[in-house]
Amino acid sequence: MNVFGVDIGGSGIKGAPVDLERGDLAEPRHKVLTPHPATPDGVAGCVAEVVEHFGWSGPVGVTFPGVVTGSTIRTAANVDKGWIGVDAAALIGERLSGMPITVLNDADAAGIAEMTFGAGRGRKGAVIMLTFGTGIGSALFTDGRLVPNTELGHLELDGHEAEKRASTKAKEDKDLSWEEWAHRVRKYLAHLEMLFSPELFIVGGGVSRKAEKFVPLLTDVRAEIVPAELQNNAGIVGAAMAAAAR
Ligand code: BGC
Repeated sequence: MNVFGVDIGGSGIKGAPVDLERGDLAEPRHKVLTPHPATPDGVAGCVAEVVEHFGWSGPVGVTFPGVVTGSTIRTAANVDKGWIGVDAAALIGERLSGMPITVLNDADAAGIAEMTFGAGRGRKGAVIMLTFGTGIGSALFTDGRLVPNTELGHLELDGHEAEKRASTKAKEDKDLSWEEWAHRVRKYLAHLEMLFSPELFIVGGGVSRKAEKFVPLLTDVRAEIVPAELQNNAGIVGAAMAAAAR
């Protein structure tokens, strides 16, 4: 069965029909640039454009880079604050002639996809998926079940929010070397390990494509650390899976 998945990111809004048996895109994805500011109306219009590009009609799953309860947006750390309190499924559904819309946190979506089709397949115990990008997203699983909206990127690290110190945006803004950045990520993982004692960390986001540059530097952490396998498409696949599970 195919279900449509859309991933709302800071730079692009990407989507495609997803083949849920294979956990992969059924067609090459379509991407439009995220409007700035990323207001609810502007972003909802872009989501509709991506879905309509495929002539799709049916259930649609959508990721959002903030806390989502039901389908209401509760936080917007790196997008327009006008999202807070918005029923995102209702807003997007209006643009798509009433198609059923499911909305969930972006890292939760990526984690769901990795746990079924990627690096977390069959893994028991506590597993933490982290997405490194503009912010740091987190998804916590116990025996394969998601604890939604964990927001571990906002824990404190060296007197600052962890995502301000250890996201890939922080690496770029401060022009950190792989060693300097890995040092911060290592400290962050050690803190998470102290709190949650996971069996496994899955490191995702665009940077997972360069895993060999920094994963070997993440020493002194007991848990296994592996790069995400679905890379750029994890959010789209997880969004479609969440829509299908409703
Ligand atoms: C948000 C999270 C999101 C993460 C990655 C954080 O700033 O609070 O909800 O998952 O960025 O986009």
